[in-house]
Amino acid sequence: MTQALWTAVDDYLCQHLVTEDDALTQALHDSRAAGLPDIAVAPNQGKMLNLFARLIGAKRILEIGTLGGYSTIWLARALPEDGRLVTCEYNPKHADVAERNIARAGLAKKVEIRIGPALHSLPLLQAQEHPPFDLVFIDADKQNNANYVQWALKLTRPGSLIIVDNVVRGGRVIDADSQDEMVDGVRRMNELLAAEPRLDATAIQTVGTKGYDGFALALVRA
Ligand code: SAH
Ligand code: DHB
Ligand code: MG
Repeated sequence: MTQALWTAVDDYLCQHLVTEDDALTQALHDSRAAGLPDIAVAPNQGKMLNLFARLIGAKRILEIGTLGGYSTIWLARALPEDGRLVTCEYNPKHADVAERNIARAGLAKKVEIRIGPALHSLPLLQAQEHPPFDLVFIDADKQNNANYVQWALKLTRPGSLIIVDNVVRGGRVIDADSQDEMVDGVRRMNELLAAEPRLDATAIQTVGTKGYDGFALALVRA
């Protein structure tokens, strides 16, 4: 069972279940053309994010890690007319590509990109008394995953959903002695998810076009 098979099955699933329109296809195309890394969520993962947001009736979404706005578009499309999404991105070039992709998708009114390190933008959201987010998607520098979960707790309400991408990293997550600080970041976050009484969490391994990885889901408890 190899990457070739995972990719072929993803192609099959996406052909049947996930229609990517021009705005999404163009977003990926322009991201690549601008030299952004090819690390956006897969189409079926994007659709999953969209379904989660609709399942919980999310009106306010926070994303940490915009890249070219691909996952942003999937998430923002789940919002009602008065819904809003804030997405944090520290690389201005990524933010610039994302801004154009989001505008082309007709979502400029719903999406605000906050440029800068997320650990700067998140305290500002709190200081500005931003109303609680219903869904937080964490997908930036994995070293800070535990910090981002702590911030997500400050910026959500009981019943909110936190989703974290890339929590398996090809299986390297089980290496307690890993020298990879991304792996270490994911492990420290998992310890927090387990220890934090305000969260009820699980994690799921995935295979597909993006390799072998996984995502965590955490519900903010009442
Ligand atoms: N969510 C995107 C992929 C994000 S890739 C998608 O699926 O389409 C991770 C992004 O996080 C990159 O664009 C990177 O520049 C950004 N990033 C890394 N460190 C960051 C930080 N400290 N604050 C904000 N963004 C950061
Ligand atoms: C990386 C980051 C991601 O968000 C992702 O989905 C895959 C890989 C990375 O930094 O390697
Ligand atoms: Mg990711």
